[in-house]
Amino acid sequence: ATPRLARLVLSGGIVFTVYEKVKRWPIILTGVVDELNKIDGALSASTDDEQAKLAEGKQLINEISGLIYEMRHDRELSPLQATGLPDDTAAYNDELAQLAEKGQNKWFTSPWLFAECYLYRRLRGLFAVTKHWNLFDPFASQKLSTWRSSAVGAAALAKSLQKLVQEGPVDDEKKLELDLLGMLEVDLWGNATDLSLLTSLTHEEIQQLQSVERGQHFVLKNDFERTWEHFKTLKDARVDIVLDNSAFELYTDMVLADWLVTLSPYVSEVVFHPKLVPWFVSDVQPHDFLILLDTLDDPSFFPTDSGLTEEDRTAFRELAARWKRYVKEGKFRLSVPTELKMGDKGELQKASLVIFKGDLNYRKLVGDAWWPTTTPFDDALGPLRGKIDILSLRTCKADTVVGLPEGTEERVEKEDPKWRINGK
Ligand code: F6P
Ligand code: MG
Repeated sequence: ATPRLARLVLSGGIVFTVYEKVKRWPIILTGVVDELNKIDGALSASTDDEQAKLAEGKQLINEISGLIYEMRHDRELSPLQATGLPDDTAAYNDELAQLAEKGQNKWFTSPWLFAECYLYRRLRGLFAVTKHWNLFDPFASQKLSTWRSSAVGAAALAKSLQKLVQEGPVDDEKKLELDLLGMLEVDLWGNATDLSLLTSLTHEEIQQLQSVERGQHFVLKNDFERTWEHFKTLKDARVDIVLDNSAFELYTDMVLADWLVTLSPYVSEVVFHPKLVPWFVSDVQPHDFLILLDTLDDPSFFPTDSGLTEEDRTAFRELAARWKRYVKEGKFRLSVPTELKMGDKGELQKASLVIFKGDLNYRKLVGDAWWPTTTPFDDALGPLRGKIDILSLRTCKADTVVGLPEGTEERVEKEDPKWRINGK
């Protein structure tokens, strides 16, 4: 009766949740410990500062190992300590107190989304109170290495985009419509590369994922017509993108943004919204955005055996030059992250369209509730309903789904019982 407050309790959801908590999350945290060990191992400890850093690094390793233990042994989620971040401690702790009353405050019994957010928030708190590691991004090297593995897929896109740019701005409406569709598809499927979901992906698997032409067949809720009608009303407008994952997905966001600004008559400015702290392994922080631009024109970034041709590298350089110019000219803007909340519509209201990327943003938009899948998207929207024009580009990695046509759920349930969570 009150779907927004409902929790996801179908059996598929529970099995997957426990898998996440027992298997995937400890792997993610162990990766952080390995990262710290690597850095600690390289420190010479010859100065006081280095010794202090080393000691803090060891302390962090202990604390994270403790967190893994708590998780594996299904301990209670302990209240968060204030750590000087945006003041969200009380919100977490209030929710924890309510969960405790219902007996749902342990790692295995707490709601999936709450526990996952708590995990990243707790991890961030450990780093935030240190002197030497408070700005450290424990996922930085993973993000870079997936980006390196994305070279071939990324280069194919770069060349396609450069070809369109060489052909020049388009005034034929049919071509604009088709190109927009292609760009949105690229950006949608860019969301499949998510490090929190893909804990053990090989270089080859990443390449395969990015080369698959999925097209529209797998799009269960396709609002392209509505989107196109909206774009046609725009002229020199501002579009905002609430970013999700770094590396390849961010690159596809920028490809879409480039097409909108360079080739369409509809948009002259794109504002990108990153995250304030390391979040869900691969989510974009401001430094990820700047690093991506630099990697494209750094000849040493993609290794010689990455399969890139000279033509590919030239296309990357051309993109980098244009994108850096757009940053300078303010056509591409990076917003200052103040941990955008779904209620903070002020800044987003300045845009003629806000594109929310990915699964987590989608879950937030619709309150992560157990809606009937035919509930209209507009009805499921929380505080942003009716306030801004929204396009959500999401591959499905968690149970909550709305907006499907009658009969779609039943059809896909037969075709692929894991359709809600496997991102396909
Ligand atoms: O499925 C694992 C998971 O971490 C979900 O809990 C979360 O909603 C999703 O992945 C995040 O995916 P995205 O990067 O698309 O937001
Ligand atoms: Mg993400």
